[in-house]
Amino acid sequence: MTRSTPSDERIRDPADDLLLEPVRGLRGSVSVPGDKSISHRALIFGALTEGTTRIENLSPGDDVQSTARCLTALGVPVRREEDRTLVEGAGARSLSEPGNVLDAGNSGTTIRLLAGVLSGQPFFSVLTGDESLRKRPMSRVVTPLLAMGASIWARGGGRYAPLAIRGASLSPIRYAAPVPSAQVKTAILLAALPLKGEVSVTEPTRSRDHTERMLRYLGADLAVEGTTVRLRGTGGQPLAARAFPVPGDPSSAAFLVVAALVTPDSDLHIRGVCANPTRTGYLGILQRMGARLEWEHVREEAGEPVGDLRVHTSRLQATEIRPEEIPAAIDEVPVLCIAAALADGVTRITGAAELRVKESDRIAAMAENLEAMGVPVQQQPDGLEIRGRARIPVFHGSSWGDHRVALSLMVAAMAAEGPCRVSGASCVSVSFPDFLARLTPLIEAR
Ligand code: S3P
Repeated sequence: MTRSTPSDERIRDPADDLLLEPVRGLRGSVSVPGDKSISHRALIFGALTEGTTRIENLSPGDDVQSTARCLTALGVPVRREEDRTLVEGAGARSLSEPGNVLDAGNSGTTIRLLAGVLSGQPFFSVLTGDESLRKRPMSRVVTPLLAMGASIWARGGGRYAPLAIRGASLSPIRYAAPVPSAQVKTAILLAALPLKGEVSVTEPTRSRDHTERMLRYLGADLAVEGTTVRLRGTGGQPLAARAFPVPGDPSSAAFLVVAALVTPDSDLHIRGVCANPTRTGYLGILQRMGARLEWEHVREEAGEPVGDLRVHTSRLQATEIRPEEIPAAIDEVPVLCIAAALADGVTRITGAAELRVKESDRIAAMAENLEAMGVPVQQQPDGLEIRGRARIPVFHGSSWGDHRVALSLMVAAMAAEGPCRVSGASCVSVSFPDFLARLTPLIEAR
């Protein structure tokens, strides 16, 4: 396993430092950008179904732009029309050989999902990404795709991008995934969708289930039993396109939720957040820590539960975050570390080794930044132990080039004793480019 270190040139650029003032609280009503996971999938399903897919509230982040650009390079028309994104799909067979390498940028979801789509295409393609993505494990997706009959070559003996794919005729498999990963599960389901016969994927713990919900919404023959998903392929007959309204991203909402909890005088209302339980594990963890938060007006839109969140300043207690809780809270662990840093007692996070192979090594990145805040912290191979303190002093943190680390540090800065500096803050554009713009009208200055 290669570990990422804060070597990205973005974090060495002093012009990319952000200075943040502490705030008294967040008050008012706000929405968050469209969910990143659902946005990638809406674009890809738009390409693989027949007809025009209208996507409302597509994530504006760089990661989703990477998927849109790759699909365009594969001959799929993707265009903006007012505040909608339109994808003109004509089924899996309509994709064409790209004239150049496909660049997934920083996006693990783009590269892994497209590896599944491209494995069965009758042409040659190469997928790559930035310095961080080229360090992340790809064998987890290459191995099952090879078992389906794909021809894929990858750097480091099949482990790292770039991935070179020569389309082959695939067969469905029954796959038991060694780690819970929605990206792996989805890559296999996407590869299997146009085939004849049934594919199944079993995970150790259930990962986020947007792909299953979206496939059902599109009319696919899909069944879920425990941690196993079974999909009967369409046998080459594309599904018909349907509109996708994208709910607000619960992972982006997490930064506002924790900011409201840890600042002294907050009463925040976050509208239209995806309430899918495979994504909102962090809310249960925060409630156990004493967070005063509740869902309001939960409804269903295009197969996903959506609701509004109400959050008040709260006094937090330390907790144990157990391995089985990690999959439904995986992307929120960095910001949960900030909640733990301000909670009474010692918070222990275990079974989270996956964090070491995200956009950065998030265990190492958060440990280093918590130390910079004077928070007693210990790293384990699969987690962290954090002793909370009453206040966070002025600190200078580093994003390690990772959007979720940068946003977590910005939350800590809001609750700190004075102005704090975050280096490499511009990487928030990966998932939440307008974080500061959405935040500013909510701020009660100190
Ligand atoms: C994602 C799945 C998760 C998550 C990532 C997005 C997805 O990764 O961390 O941010 O959209 O499928 P894994 O599938 O590797 O757990």
